[in-house]
Amino acid sequence: MKIRIAFALASLPLTLSCFGTPAPYQDPSRPVEERVNDLLARMTVEERDSMLAGQGWMESRAIPRLGIPSIKMSDGPLGVRNWTGPSAVTLKAPVLTTAFPSGIALASTWDVDLAGRVAHAVGQETKAFGRDMILGPTVNINRGPLWGRNFEGFGEDPYLAARLAVAWVKGVQAEGVIPAVKHFAANNEEFERHRIDEKIDARTLNEIYFPAFKAAVTEGGAWAVMSAYNKVNGEWCSENPALLRDTLQDKWGFKGLVVSDWGSTYSTPGPIVAGMNLEMPGGAAFHYWFGIPSTKEAGNSGGWLEKEEVMAAVNSGQVTQARVDDSVRRILRVLFTAGLFDHPHVGGMLVDTPSEQEAAKQGAEEGVILLKNSGAILPLRASAMHTVAVIGPSASVARTGGGGSSFVQPKRAISVLQGIRDAAGREVQVMYALGTPMEGGKGSPTPSEGQLLDLRKDAATLAAQCDAAVVVVGDSNVQESEGFDRPTMDLPEGQAALIAAVAAANPHTVVVVIAGSPVTASPWIDSVPGVLCSWFSGQSGGTAVAEALFGRINPSGKLPVTWPRRYEDSTAYGNYPGAHLHVTYAEGIYVGYRGFDRRGTVPQFPFGYGQSYTSFEYSGLSVAPAGDGAAVSFSVRNTGAVAGAEVPQLYVHEEHPAIDRPLKELKGFQRVELAPGESRTVTLTLGRPDLSYYDPGRGDWVADSGEFEVWVGSSSADIRLRGHFTRP
Ligand code: BGC
Repeated sequence: MKIRIAFALASLPLTLSCFGTPAPYQDPSRPVEERVNDLLARMTVEERDSMLAGQGWMESRAIPRLGIPSIKMSDGPLGVRNWTGPSAVTLKAPVLTTAFPSGIALASTWDVDLAGRVAHAVGQETKAFGRDMILGPTVNINRGPLWGRNFEGFGEDPYLAARLAVAWVKGVQAEGVIPAVKHFAANNEEFERHRIDEKIDARTLNEIYFPAFKAAVTEGGAWAVMSAYNKVNGEWCSENPALLRDTLQDKWGFKGLVVSDWGSTYSTPGPIVAGMNLEMPGGAAFHYWFGIPSTKEAGNSGGWLEKEEVMAAVNSGQVTQARVDDSVRRILRVLFTAGLFDHPHVGGMLVDTPSEQEAAKQGAEEGVILLKNSGAILPLRASAMHTVAVIGPSASVARTGGGGSSFVQPKRAISVLQGIRDAAGREVQVMYALGTPMEGGKGSPTPSEGQLLDLRKDAATLAAQCDAAVVVVGDSNVQESEGFDRPTMDLPEGQAALIAAVAAANPHTVVVVIAGSPVTASPWIDSVPGVLCSWFSGQSGGTAVAEALFGRINPSGKLPVTWPRRYEDSTAYGNYPGAHLHVTYAEGIYVGYRGFDRRGTVPQFPFGYGQSYTSFEYSGLSVAPAGDGAAVSFSVRNTGAVAGAEVPQLYVHEEHPAIDRPLKELKGFQRVELAPGESRTVTLTLGRPDLSYYDPGRGDWVADSGEFEVWVGSSSADIRLRGHFTRP
């Protein structure tokens, strides 16, 4: 009976629903849930079923009869990707958008406010571009240094990643733009990304791979989450009820929509029953795009949630209409909440505005990490020099981001060479040598040994003639990209030899690393006095590096990832990338510094590390019980001669945990800017979640009573203050 009434209502044409007064769903003053229910009741079953698949490459399905708009999407998260589909549908004249720093560069700022500002700017551009959803942030953990997409994520630590994820989500949503927090869950390798089955225990998922997603949902109120390509514990993420229904929706109370990663659906009932709501892409044109030898007869993964298939699944009893309606309800809820019903994004506005450029620049500047500075080689003193040699395959080309779906083509990107020319001043002559080519590869002839040697010789000769040399090395978006993992952590062929040759020619040699993940530095690091790392840092990366080199800014970035001496020391080594389509996360929760601490391995550079042109003194630690945890306060003073920013980090150590726990876990941090001589009191609070571990036996988080230590450090390996409290 009920059903019949609903269907009768649903078939009423829109115009009849109102006679001049808007229908409840059209009235912006009504509560979202009321609007959702009203609209759902007006939709035919066919219309509802049609909404579970997209139309085209970057758009969900609209229902014009009821004025339901589509969700127009744009790739991210390094900015608004300025194309909307593969060749056939790519914009003819792309609008050039802002290339923001990559996730790892943004994470290196440890500046939550700045991450929020960058996200605002990304949100603004998404709207200006006429899009409603930005496919980011990527909050997957950097499990090991070879993942091709490490550059997109926020590093190895779940707490740091969670703070940045929340800021990013809130920033984007404040603009009425839908972020898609991706890729849920444990998308940590490109190797066999459509077929790999990851065995991960519950504690590891909850302590390492979930927290950034959980925080994005529970604290950030994220409107959308993107599922991952891979399988977790035997089931594809797009049809994994343990992930989507039990964890995301039931435990975390997620009310938004789950969108599939592109071509990651592998059946019809599976995703719907598990809690996946929107298959992307959609429409016949894209069904044969993904040549995945999975389960569908046609050998592709597209079109699983097309209307006909959904209807057939409902008719055969594999799926209930209620589950389909839940998906529709979620899509409608997001449309209403984001304001897209009432204020559609029309686009055609200016992008790459001064404020967006500024956010990108600040992100790049704050993310520069000073890794080594022997004999205070840096900053270079322009007034005391006449010549500088700028050398290397990443010197004259701006390496704004890694490769794949996140790549943004900006209007203008500053290379390190250009940045140095701008920053060095007229008195300093800037000279350039390639030193060694990089990604020439495809199509262009590989240089012979002799050509390489000559190139290197030219670079060394130039370096010898100059007051200082800057060698810019690392990867490009060809070496580090979505779609495949790096074969090695080593610098691309020829770069280590180039550093050696230049360092031998000029003792005042500084290396700049531009990459998306750590590179092997042990073969060359002792031969040079200075090393900076800027990662892929967007369109202003070259400016930021040059400003840091010449002391226009004081580097304050801190590593969001442990930098291993050798690949074999990394914590997933031996359990990555897996074989026969299986990988076991055998290191468990001991990812990054947690694992280095446990094994006592000394890294090249520890998590949280980064030097400055000034020095900081920590003092006056006080730890007082507060609520269910403790309030920790201490002072940080700039004891040097120049202004700078420090990021004090708070690590928790439990003395006698009921189960095995890492030596220390990051549970607080704050970036503080200090003038010379200035001192600031920092107060950080530890709540129950910060003291808890996930107890797989109970299937829940547990905080022990007992003794806890709090360690405050300038990095995970440079603990300056130690305090203690007892949790009753
Ligand atoms: C990537 C996603 C991306 C999507 C759309 C997929 O291959 O994994 O991160 O958003 O494509 O381009």
